[in-house]
Amino acid sequence: MAIEHPSFGKLEDDRIIFFDTTLRDGEQSPGFSMNLEEKLRMAEALADLGVDVIEAGFAIASPGDFDSVKSIAQRFSKDGPVVASLSRAHQADIMRSVEATKPAARPRVHIVLATSDLHMRVKLRMSREEVLESIASSVGLARNHAADVEWSAEDGSRSDIDFLCRCVETAIRAGATTINIPDTVGYSMPEDIAAIFRALRERVPGAEKVIFSAHNHNDLGMAVANTLAAVRAGVRQIESTINGIGERAGNASLEEVAMALRTRRDVLPFRSNIVTTSLLRTSKLLATITGFDVQPNKAIVGRNAFAHESGIHQDGVLKDASTYEIMTPESVGWTTNSLVLGKHSGRAAFRDKLRALGYPEIGDNQLNDAFRRFKDIADRKKVVYDEDVAALVDDEVLRAHD
Ligand code: KIV
Ligand code: ZN
Repeated sequence: MAIEHPSFGKLEDDRIIFFDTTLRDGEQSPGFSMNLEEKLRMAEALADLGVDVIEAGFAIASPGDFDSVKSIAQRFSKDGPVVASLSRAHQADIMRSVEATKPAARPRVHIVLATSDLHMRVKLRMSREEVLESIASSVGLARNHAADVEWSAEDGSRSDIDFLCRCVETAIRAGATTINIPDTVGYSMPEDIAAIFRALRERVPGAEKVIFSAHNHNDLGMAVANTLAAVRAGVRQIESTINGIGERAGNASLEEVAMALRTRRDVLPFRSNIVTTSLLRTSKLLATITGFDVQPNKAIVGRNAFAHESGIHQDGVLKDASTYEIMTPESVGWTTNSLVLGKHSGRAAFRDKLRALGYPEIGDNQLNDAFRRFKDIADRKKVVYDEDVAALVDDEVLRAHD
């Protein structure tokens, strides 16, 4: 069933909203803070990537954060993504977010309050009734100033489900238009996440009028799986970051969620505005800005994501790439896949490398000799570079002429 949303208008049921929090939750990872100019560059790249909502910062956190949120809001004063600022359920926080996001064509105030018994007792020192009152008053205040208000239940996935239903009902009554249930500490399994969203959608009056959102941390490496489980349970906004950066082990990686949705349309029949061919470029920009490269085996954007070393795989890929690639490298922004020569490589990849390096076809005997010597080198080195291959073949050709 379509939903009428203050920022997006009519939203069809198969539309997934990408909420990017690289500039807020992502920036909260140690060593990843960005200055104003860097945040603006990232915001531009995120808009080009097609994200629907940019969480630009936590306006009350510092004057610098306020300025970043405001500058990003000014940048998107005509069109482009919704610009959000995080706030605790305090009047001062909310008013700072309202002020910072105001220049945006489509501003969003995001409010977070913990709902698990542990967080309420130890951190907030508030009773359940006090939390409910705070939700009603904070969301109500935000709605007096902004049409688009997101409410998040911090540690929502570890909250008592009956109480969580009451919290969500209160937030909806007070005017929240998006309800986000974070797995703040990355504790949940996909079935847990699905069960929570199903319960909320079935039990809370007014649930059909709002967008549910998932925000999963990666402490057990489950963030992407949990996000996809949430989508299958009716969530239509997913919160993620470029390269999966974020508090501790990070957040769900935007590029992985986007490509899972695209590659597995058979089980995830949804649409988004993400321009997947810009994924690599955006990932690289973030790595350059922060100085942290992604690990080589990172899905989609890691340098090995489309690299093949073993002979069996290289042979298959040379015959038909779909034998070992479930998506094309071009679809995420790589120009090509790569066959890396190492001790597991076979004759087919070796011959292919010679062709790529511009060598004329050599006879089988010469190829066999060169290949044998290549294997000796490969046993000694982790990767055999183009220069090693060139030296080896030149030597082989010279020998043949002796
Ligand atoms: O992980 C979390 O609970 C959060 C909220 C502020 C949304 O980042
Ligand atoms: Zn978070």
